[in-house]
Amino acid sequence: MKIYRANVLFTLTPKELNVLEHGYVVVGDDGNVIDTCQTLPERYATEPVIDFGDQLLMPAMNDLHVHAPQYRNHGIAMDMELLPWLNTYTFPEESKYRDLKYAERMYRRFVHDLWSVGTMRAAVFATIHPEATCLLADLLHEAGMGGMVGLVGMDRNGSETLSNTAEEAVAGTKQLIEHTAQMPLVSAIVTPRFVPSCTPEMMTALGQLAKEYQLPVQSHLSENRSEIAWVKELEPESTCYGDAYLRYGMFGQTPTLMAHCCYTEGEEFELMRQNHVFAVHCPTSNCNLGSGIAPIRRFLEAGIPVALGSDVSGGSGFSIFKVMQYALQMSKLKWLYTDHQDQFLSLSEVFYLGTKLGGSFFGKVGSFEPGYAFDALVVDDAQLNFDNYSIQHRLERYIYLGDDRQLTHRFCQGREIKLKE
Ligand code: GUN
Ligand code: FE
Repeated sequence: MKIYRANVLFTLTPKELNVLEHGYVVVGDDGNVIDTCQTLPERYATEPVIDFGDQLLMPAMNDLHVHAPQYRNHGIAMDMELLPWLNTYTFPEESKYRDLKYAERMYRRFVHDLWSVGTMRAAVFATIHPEATCLLADLLHEAGMGGMVGLVGMDRNGSETLSNTAEEAVAGTKQLIEHTAQMPLVSAIVTPRFVPSCTPEMMTALGQLAKEYQLPVQSHLSENRSEIAWVKELEPESTCYGDAYLRYGMFGQTPTLMAHCCYTEGEEFELMRQNHVFAVHCPTSNCNLGSGIAPIRRFLEAGIPVALGSDVSGGSGFSIFKVMQYALQMSKLKWLYTDHQDQFLSLSEVFYLGTKLGGSFFGKVGSFEPGYAFDALVVDDAQLNFDNYSIQHRLERYIYLGDDRQLTHRFCQGREIKLKE
């Protein structure tokens, strides 16, 4: 058992931030939280306490949409919208992952950067290459971090060097399932790139695979207007973009993440609600690629689960704290453009999305309630807290002004994760 003392912050519900000033989190040997309390119950009186002093202790970040093989491109090449951006910058870069040496060099940096910004679990797109994808799973596992890794299926409209067949995507995903079978925190996720990249044959094969192995699914949905128009042309029988996943068993038949959903409305909105499909909000990416502003308030009001994603390299950085900041700011623009119809998001809401709601995709992750995995960050914000701010304001300042320099400890499933700086 481990007992930690610090200024504890977490969200039970989107509505409010729980704050325990100099409170305690008791963690069992299995890495799960036993107790979170303001004063330490008598039964723990003889146990040693690890005291983090005046630092903040909060759940670690969950990134529910990120492309590991776009590592080299993050922070560059944001001068195009989605479709030309994919063809010009993204597909050529992902082609390089046939070379395992290149993959290792980049994937090591990728895992390090996730860790650095306090993301302990992620839903990750890899590439079409099975060896490099298994290597990525190894690196996450060796680091002690958690996540779901997807071998990407794409058999149309890619480039000559970045294309697989339905058979190869299924075989590669099966290889990954076997490869991750003994990894407690890393697993496989079925990953059709998006409808324009996948023939009906690919969609059928991946849908069957998800069903057979009861695997979760991740993809992209209604990110950009030209993409949506293209899907209409490619899949004339589908009643909406979301329906083009649904008809192949990949829209909530097993747990499903759909990134972006900037233009989701009407039938697609209703299908997401009924099938409990996660909308993964990627506001930094939606800004960089000029894609749009997702209707997050309406999703939340309808009970559609919303998680946060960095979407590197559409998104320019890995920090989910930065994504929270953008989610807040973009929601103000949405509020403005809807004539104040869509109320903007609050601090506790975006924090809830990045921790507890995003974490729920991995199980009991993202909170400090008893039974939750102790995935946590310790933040020394002394330099930002120069005049006795409230704990809530200290979190807000950290989201807007902080970075990895203030993170002093990172935990995943109870274990402190230390990588070389
Ligand atoms: N849609 C299909 N592939 C991608 C990708 O790599 N990034 C983003 N943002 N959208 C996509
Ligand atoms: Fe993406």
